[in-house]
Amino acid sequence: MTDVASQKPAEDDNREVLTNRQGHPVYDNQNQRTVGARGPATLENYQFLEKISHFDRERIPERVVHARGAVGFGYFEATGMWGDEPISKYTRAKLFQEPGKRTDLVVRFSSVIGGRDSSEAARDPRGFAVKFYTEDGNWDLVGNNLGVFFIRDAIKFPDVIHSLKPDPVTFRQEPARIFDFMSQTPESMHMLVNLFSPRGIPANYRTMQGFGVNTYKWVNADGLTHLVKYHWIPSVGVKSLTEKDAAAVQAGDLGHATKDLYESIENGDYPEWELRVQLMSDDAHDELDFDPLDDTKLWPENDFPPKTVGKMVLNRNQSNFFAENEQLSFGTGVLVDGLDFSDDKMLVGRTFSYSDTQRYRVGPNYLQLPVNQAKNAKVHTNQRDGQMTYHVDGGENPHINYEPSITDGSLREAAYPTHDEQGPEIVGRLTRKRIPRTDDYTQAGQRFLLMEPWEQDDLVANFVELIGQASREVQERMVWHFFLVEDELGARVGAGLGISADDVRHLPPLQSQTLNEAELARLANLG
Ligand code: HEM
Repeated sequence: MTDVASQKPAEDDNREVLTNRQGHPVYDNQNQRTVGARGPATLENYQFLEKISHFDRERIPERVVHARGAVGFGYFEATGMWGDEPISKYTRAKLFQEPGKRTDLVVRFSSVIGGRDSSEAARDPRGFAVKFYTEDGNWDLVGNNLGVFFIRDAIKFPDVIHSLKPDPVTFRQEPARIFDFMSQTPESMHMLVNLFSPRGIPANYRTMQGFGVNTYKWVNADGLTHLVKYHWIPSVGVKSLTEKDAAAVQAGDLGHATKDLYESIENGDYPEWELRVQLMSDDAHDELDFDPLDDTKLWPENDFPPKTVGKMVLNRNQSNFFAENEQLSFGTGVLVDGLDFSDDKMLVGRTFSYSDTQRYRVGPNYLQLPVNQAKNAKVHTNQRDGQMTYHVDGGENPHINYEPSITDGSLREAAYPTHDEQGPEIVGRLTRKRIPRTDDYTQAGQRFLLMEPWEQDDLVANFVELIGQASREVQERMVWHFFLVEDELGARVGAGLGISADDVRHLPPLQSQTLNEAELARLANLG
């Protein structure tokens, strides 16, 4: 029989006492309160009910995409200059100004489609999301490891993700569904040529690049704007896995990339990336054969040379997965002075979606959590209340949660530093139209030709294996696209599927696409 007296701690036991959240000491954490040693249990058992009901609520909804991720903390160190040129010429964002200036940050790398416990060796884009805790408030740069995306209009995002996620009946990822959608989505070709090559399975998070993908703007002190794209370059170089390599990794460990990142940081082998930007004047650039606001395109590096603006070093691991990874929340609307949105039609949709999902996933006060707080800036909002409010910020007078106020003048609107208008004037009719310069194939073909032979072989084998599981109609349409991408790709995937140029020549362009003259000429001479 247990008796409380026999559990008395020894005189020299100086350990803290286990308590519940109310601060009550826990007398017995092994046995419920019962009537007699054999029960029944009592309901007025606050301690037990608190313990079990908190456990029942330990999970929050996982992210609808990017559910599995690994986190690292560290800093960004600015170069401040490009050669003789100060970066202030292009942006007034404070974190970029002084050479050597450091800004705290957190990064979350992730895979997209699988659930919270899925394999990190899956073929999938990888997320590369960085939160900079600047003195002007937080800046989130929410990117991926591949420089382009499947679609160019946010209205298609739920569809592309549904096609990639498990079948709603079988709950298996089905290549037939993926290629059914992609065959009708010609703008996905550039992404597919990347994703199904070894680049679609980075060897580790430390060995992958990151890209902002969408086009943003930089604004200088005079209000002059430039279009900008961001690139992260790993100091250890890029390393990827073939399908076969990945199968071997996955057989032994579903979390190899998290382990690699965690151990590198623990061992003091701090991962590093250089941040480079490409800039363009802020206009439509009619001279280009692509639209600078189209996230299915890269900007050619010869014409828009990447410039280094700093480096990121990760030197601390998360101290708790749930607090600093699961509840960590990024968004494309989280910008600081000197950085701005462009009219990229993906970016506007993303900017709504992230904070919308976080209010649902984490709760309306997700920005009060330590990892999401603007910890290096002063925060004074008139926001009050809502689930899980634990902190009230504001002016000096706690009665005043509105502005303007003559009673308490301690809060005011910020006068925008120098200009209240910036960027080119936009004029247009309301409409629902594709952008005119689509060119869905050229860059995909260039990417294929730049690959090394082993990468091309892996790409072709992956396409044949997976597209082979789709209907004949889908297979033919995919081969048709691949011939427009590059003859060799069309011919090799076609050969694997038993489909020749003659079999697909008769197919008309999709209703959702307008081929340009060069593409029509290629279509006439397919193969
Ligand atoms: C996560 C929406 C396109 C990168 C998410 C989440 C949503 C979302 C709802 C979950 C966020 C959370 O629960 O905290 C969208 C929409 C897109 C889009 C609507 C297109 C219109 C993209 C693109 C990229 C990207 C193009 C890459 C440049 C990421 C990353 C995460 C993420 C890295 C994970 C962030 C984290 O680690 O918490 N996205 N996304 N997304 N998305 Fe997107």
